[in-house]
Amino acid sequence: MDCLQLDDVQRDWLRHRFKAADAGHPAIAALHRSVSALIASDASVVRADWRVPAADAAYGIPRLCSRVPLPPEQDDCEDLLASILENARLPALPIVFHKLQQQLEDPDTSVDDVAWTISMDPKLTVSLLRLVNSAFFGLKVHVETVSRAVAILGAKRLSALATGTLLLGLFHERPPQAIDVDEFWRHSVACGLAARTIGICIGRETPERLFVAGLLHDIGWLALCCERPDLACGALRESAHSGDMLHECEQRVLGFDHGVLGYRLAAKWNLPPAIASAIAWHHEPEKAVADSANALHMDDVDIVHFADLVVHAMGASITCDQFVPRLDPQSWERLGMAPEHVGMVVHAVATELEMTLELLRAEAA
Ligand SMILES: [Fe+2]
Ligand SMILES: [Fe+2]
Repeated sequence: MDCLQLDDVQRDWLRHRFKAADAGHPAIAALHRSVSALIASDASVVRADWRVPAADAAYGIPRLCSRVPLPPEQDDCEDLLASILENARLPALPIVFHKLQQQLEDPDTSVDDVAWTISMDPKLTVSLLRLVNSAFFGLKVHVETVSRAVAILGAKRLSALATGTLLLGLFHERPPQAIDVDEFWRHSVACGLAARTIGICIGRETPERLFVAGLLHDIGWLALCCERPDLACGALRESAHSGDMLHECEQRVLGFDHGVLGYRLAAKWNLPPAIASAIAWHHEPEKAVADSANALHMDDVDIVHFADLVVHAMGASITCDQFVPRLDPQSWERLGMAPEHVGMVVHAVATELEMTLELLRAEAA
């Protein structure tokens, strides 16, 4: 792939990042071209450190991992999943969250219903008003009440945003071991923005739900790091030493990956089924196709699958899971996205990421 305008170090970094990707696929070629152009125009948008890690180095494994003991042998992955999900240390969700979930799924939800639910939580109210008045939405008027915000943005759009704000805020209160929270946030928010932009590019009517699906797609990894840092570090070490993708190493070490754990968490939290399916299958859309329960939600699965690829290519990865994951060609076909749109997605993430990160960080603090 061509990246003539880059210096040698940047070229090496890009080659390394795309090493598992199918260079002959038009979507991957477009992604490579767009990220090369972005680096050539403003390299600092992508990253400050261009070193390529040595193959056997522990690069990307957070320092905390060196203090986490090796995991014991796992006998039964279903028991392990259940114990992580049942563990009391996972944050409890506020009542307002469940109410908003019901309203998101209910076609009869009115503007007043959602405004009333959000108003029950003063911190959420302040957060949402700040978000709504930010440059992210680019509104020409200043919005001072939740009911006005709901009227302008729509009930579903605002409750999707409230859901993401609430969930990330909860985890931010308990920074987990074995994870660089800033990198995790960066990856999650970038994926949310990419998913939202892909949705807009291909004419979907649910960009806010796609933002939340992208935001939460790796929530299972966060939960694993909160609950079982020993197992998370075991998978990270395996990934650093084998060079395989993190989710593949999780399957070897744990018997399941963060998609499955995230799906079970999403079910426990009663998240909308489309978001739960995207969380479950973002690494393996082909497995979602095999299960008829996902038939209605393949759009969300395919969009988050490609959004995850885009942000890995842009240098926003979770820890050492640093390569561009493999693209499922059938998933790309289903999306019906033109390769020319890939550059728009990369551009949107590059221009909106820092601003959105600042906003959400401020809300969760
Ligand atoms: Fe993932
Ligand atoms: Fe991801």
